[in-house]
Amino acid sequence: MPVTFITGASTGIGAALAVEFGCRGHKVGIIARRPELLAEVAKQVEAAGGKAAYAAADVTRRSDLAEAIASLEAQLGPCDLLVANAGIGEPTPAQKAPIEAIERILDLNVRGVLYAIGAVLPGMVARKSGHIAAVSSVAGFRGLPGTGGYSASKAYVTTLLESFRVDLKRKGVAVTSINPGFIETPLTSVNKFPMPFLMKTDRAARIIADGLERRRAEITFPLPMKLLMNFARLLPNWLYDLIIHRASPMK
Ligand SMILES: NC(=O)c1ccc[n+]([C@@H]2O[C@H](COP(=O)([O-])OP(=O)(O)OC[C@H]3O[C@@H](n4cnc5c(N)ncnc54)[C@H](OP(=O)(O)O)[C@@H]3O)[C@@H](O)[C@H]2O)c1
Repeated sequence: MPVTFITGASTGIGAALAVEFGCRGHKVGIIARRPELLAEVAKQVEAAGGKAAYAAADVTRRSDLAEAIASLEAQLGPCDLLVANAGIGEPTPAQKAPIEAIERILDLNVRGVLYAIGAVLPGMVARKSGHIAAVSSVAGFRGLPGTGGYSASKAYVTTLLESFRVDLKRKGVAVTSINPGFIETPLTSVNKFPMPFLMKTDRAARIIADGLERRRAEITFPLPMKLLMNFARLLPNWLYDLIIHRASPMK
């Protein structure tokens, strides 16, 4: 049974992915801050046919996270696949100079991912096997208006994973950047603007698990959002600014 650890698995994409891996017969170790929700997700993983263990931790606290991961490894065995998924988003329009909000986002979306990778990567490198993945976002493909803090945090994660992927190429450790578009979760439930191609979490979890099983370098979906954001990456700045400013819900 492969051993898969997922951070931010008490709700949303992380919880759905835990259950999906349960269906696929994995031993699933889940981490988030709320133990009562983790216990519920662990029950669903086991009902789906997997084995589950959970540990409550704040992933922005490096030693707490390392302790949680050590406890999961003691219960389930060494981690074969890490999905660093815990993340937040909130508006950070430049005109408000939202430095504290951006710091909050960086703490979780960047530090939380780094600490999770740091806790399992040395073991994987020593064993010459394993798989590191993080849930980034298509929001990292270009600087999106009104959410610079979130967009930049995801650009950081995607770029870091790309470098690590190359570094680890002949070391037996695969690296995957997961870049969803809009998924129906507590994170997006507060959005007041239209969310094109919005997808249900269970469908997103199936797509992510399929891509991870194939050890893909990148899992970007839904397809129309992937095409749109890849196209946006090709636009010159003047044209990107013109289109995105018109379309922005946060003018
Ligand atoms: N939903 C989307 O449209 C979308 C699109 C692209 C990318 N993403 C990314 O997908 C990931 C999951 O988001 P989601 O949409 O599933 O949102 P969500 O339902 O709000 O899930 C966030 C998860 O992170 C956990 N978390 C938050 N702060 C934490 C902390 N300090 N320490 C440990 N765990 C913490 C939460 O659990 P606790 O509160 O119990 O700790 C929860 O399990 C995020 O990285 C997000 O940026 C989402």
